Amino acid sequence: MSPRIYFKSRIILLALASLVAITSAFSSDQQPLHSHAGSNFSVGFSLQSSYGAAAVIFEDADGRLETYTRVHKPGYLYQQVMAKLSLQSSRHIAPPYDGDGEFWANMPRQSARMALKSMGLPASYEVGVLAQAIKHLRSQLESDFSINISEAVFTSSHLLALYQDDLEDVAVNVGIKYVTPRYQFQPILWETAAACWDEESKLPDTTVLGVHYSHNALTVSLAEVQTAFSMCEPNYRRIENFTLGSDAISRYPSSNDYWTDVKAALLEIMDEYPLFNRPKTIIVTGDMAHRLFMDFLVETLYDYLGELRPILSANAKVVSAMGAAEFMRRG
Ligand SMILES: *[C@@H]1O[C@H](CO)[C@@H](O)[C@H](O)[C@H]1NC(C)=O
Ligand SMILES: *[C@@H]1O[C@H](CO)[C@@H](O)[C@H](O)[C@H]1NC(C)=O
Ligand SMILES: *[C@@H]1O[C@H](CO)[C@@H](O)[C@H](O)[C@H]1NC(C)=O
Repeated sequence: MSPRIYFKSRIILLALASLVAITSAFSSDQQPLHSHAGSNFSVGFSLQSSYGAAAVIFEDADGRLETYTRVHKPGYLYQQVMAKLSLQSSRHIAPPYDGDGEFWANMPRQSARMALKSMGLPASYEVGVLAQAIKHLRSQLESDFSINISEAVFTSSHLLALYQDDLEDVAVNVGIKYVTPRYQFQPILWETAAACWDEESKLPDTTVLGVHYSHNALTVSLAEVQTAFSMCEPNYRRIENFTLGSDAISRYPSSNDYWTDVKAALLEIMDEYPLFNRPKTIIVTGDMAHRLFMDFLVETLYDYLGELRPILSANAKVVSAMGAAEFMRRG
């Protein structure tokens, strides 16, 4: 999978997440009202900055859908791993390779991972920590709904040093088939972009500001989504700040100082690229996207952009897991 395709799938996921946010009639962390035994189901997992989320969509014979979600908040080690994977210094060569020089350069690393995996161990320390979170979510879903999960779509916070093969190795470690989102999701992207898509021959871009806010992190990305999927070359710009999550507020002399930094982070990319398209839509994820933060976000963006943009924040905590499950269902 090339980096470009990788970005594409991220973008689609974002777009899909928004679609799910809008259309999902029913999402709940309740137990099902009736048994789902024998019905088809699709599972998605999402590894977020400070927690993991899972979603399962049941589809009965009449095509009726029911979505359930679960959230698991792992301990400090998990947050530490996520913070580490956000650092430039944690980057390394990883597939897909840019030429066979990289392939050979990465051989020792790959061999070490293979050796660990062949012993049934996680491919790396980080993979092991992340896999624990997935194992927890998996057994929760399996026991709550009496299902056996054998395959799923995985997604994660977009971190500099969290690579596709890390996620694949997480899946290997937990024994779940890693299902790769594919091109057939093209129509969904179009559907999402329907607001600005009127003619087949004229497919305007849409620009999305993705904001993730949790206990330990604030991440912001300005992504360009081209509605014509074959031409989709999203231009990603993003920041990942693991010292600006909601927990950080207590480390600031005053809450005003904290919000000043949050504001700067929210606007940083747009400040840096004044000529880049302004976002048409804002998609919010994370487990701390509460009223206070949302009000602040709305106000900050309104002041900056001079107009209100749609901000999609329904199910912010689990929306990416729901998007992944939806991918699984349609794939
Ligand atoms: C499950 O999916 C299969 C294949 O798509 C279909 O034939 C079957 O009717 C579905 N079962 C239910 C209960 O929806
Ligand atoms: C799940 O797998 C176990 C072990 O293979 C099996 O005993 C059980 O019946 C399965 N449960 C469902 C709901 O398929
Ligand atoms: C995160 O934000 C703080 C406060 O604005 C800043 O000092 C720090 O450099 C940022 N970290 C990163 C990795 O951008």
